[in-house]
Amino acid sequence: MEKKWHNRIRKDILGIDLKVPLVDGAQRPYINLDNAATTPPLLPVVQTVQAFLPWYSSVHRGFGYKSQLSTEVYHEARRQIMTFFGAPGQEYIALFVKNTSEGLNKLAARLPAVGNGEVISTWMEHHSNDLPWRLRKEAEFIELTGEGCLDLADLESKLKKGRRRYKLVTVCGASNVTGIINPLQTIAELAHHYGAQIAVDAAQLAPHYPIRLRTAGAEPIDYISLSGHKIYAPFGTGVLFGPVETFRAGTPDQVGGGGVIAVSREEVVFAPLPDREEVGTPNLIGALALATALRWLAKNGFERIAAYERKLTKYAYDGLKTVPGLILYGPPPERYPRIGVISFNLEGIPHGLVAAYLAFEAGIGVRHGCFCARPYVHHLLGLTKDQILSYENLAKAGRKCLLPGMVRVSFGFYNTEAEIDLLVAALKNLREEEGKIKNRYQIDPATGEYLPKIGDFKGALLRHTKTFFHL
Ligand code: ALA
Repeated sequence: MEKKWHNRIRKDILGIDLKVPLVDGAQRPYINLDNAATTPPLLPVVQTVQAFLPWYSSVHRGFGYKSQLSTEVYHEARRQIMTFFGAPGQEYIALFVKNTSEGLNKLAARLPAVGNGEVISTWMEHHSNDLPWRLRKEAEFIELTGEGCLDLADLESKLKKGRRRYKLVTVCGASNVTGIINPLQTIAELAHHYGAQIAVDAAQLAPHYPIRLRTAGAEPIDYISLSGHKIYAPFGTGVLFGPVETFRAGTPDQVGGGGVIAVSREEVVFAPLPDREEVGTPNLIGALALATALRWLAKNGFERIAAYERKLTKYAYDGLKTVPGLILYGPPPERYPRIGVISFNLEGIPHGLVAAYLAFEAGIGVRHGCFCARPYVHHLLGLTKDQILSYENLAKAGRKCLLPGMVRVSFGFYNTEAEIDLLVAALKNLREEEGKIKNRYQIDPATGEYLPKIGDFKGALLRHTKTFFHL
């Protein structure tokens, strides 16, 4: 039953059977274990977009039929997205942005009442929920436990000491490095108790676990930012949700056409929400795609999908533990809730080489490095300040091959235990034939990438690229 259900929903991924070339010239079905970066599109999303494209026209900018239809579709997409994330229209607004990073930057720019030193972020964050606050608001950061969880005692102590001083706590829903799901309800309760709002970077959490701004009986969330390209809707859109009050007045972070109702030589009158915050022609296709992906998740049982992914994560974690010399980061999923994101290192083998071997010899796509979360990765690797400094100097000198990092696998609902078995087998093979495999690769010192010594991978990639441009 479970298998039948899974086979059915797996078929809704576009390109699920795609083959990729290996270094020996063979073609292998691609195993995509890099869903934390970008998920593939859902077929129904692509079909809906294709069905709509002949009608596609300008939103809010014309009176022809197509233009009016486009405007309606854009409004309906917003309504559906707000419903999915439990955002009542009287209190909340959903603003379309490019992605989570843009949403968080917008938020940091649009909180004039929140002054320097009045924001708490955490050392677990992706740079997109760190740098906007660090650089614009001189944020403070919650410490981590040894195994990389948030130290909630530190959060409470900071909130307590600065009673009424902090106005915002901003935290990821789930880490893009360890997959740890943060206790958002507890954090929201603490923040509100001490007079602060809570913002959630839901880029990683939202595709794998239901999250709502308002649910009966639960502590509300004030702001959520998320991306379409991580939730099976890769058409360049994301959403920032927040209270209407925050965005109703003041000067938007970007200004221009579409965001105003009157402009004279003397005066500028901004439009009501949401237009005032969505300057320029909006990404209607992205909005439609995201709404369609969310409808697909709801229709196919998001809770069931989340439960499947939990099982898969545990299966993967247990499988990876059997690879000799494999170091896993973060607490095990049986002890701490995690989405399907697992980072590891293989003792004695550079993370870049592990990723290259998986790509070139097993057809498995993973990410390696620091995943745009350097302070967190440094903590998990146990680096000293001096080590971090020396790595920074290497990076500044353009010497990328020695930089620290990890290998990350991250799952979508469509991944299977069979794919995980292939990953584990590939890693065991790498371990067993370490010497021979290391010899098959060379590093490009400028990029830090490992490439096979034989074959012309870059040339083949270029030829493939050209086919999309009819060259
Ligand atoms: N934030 C994305 C990742 O973790 C890009 O890979």
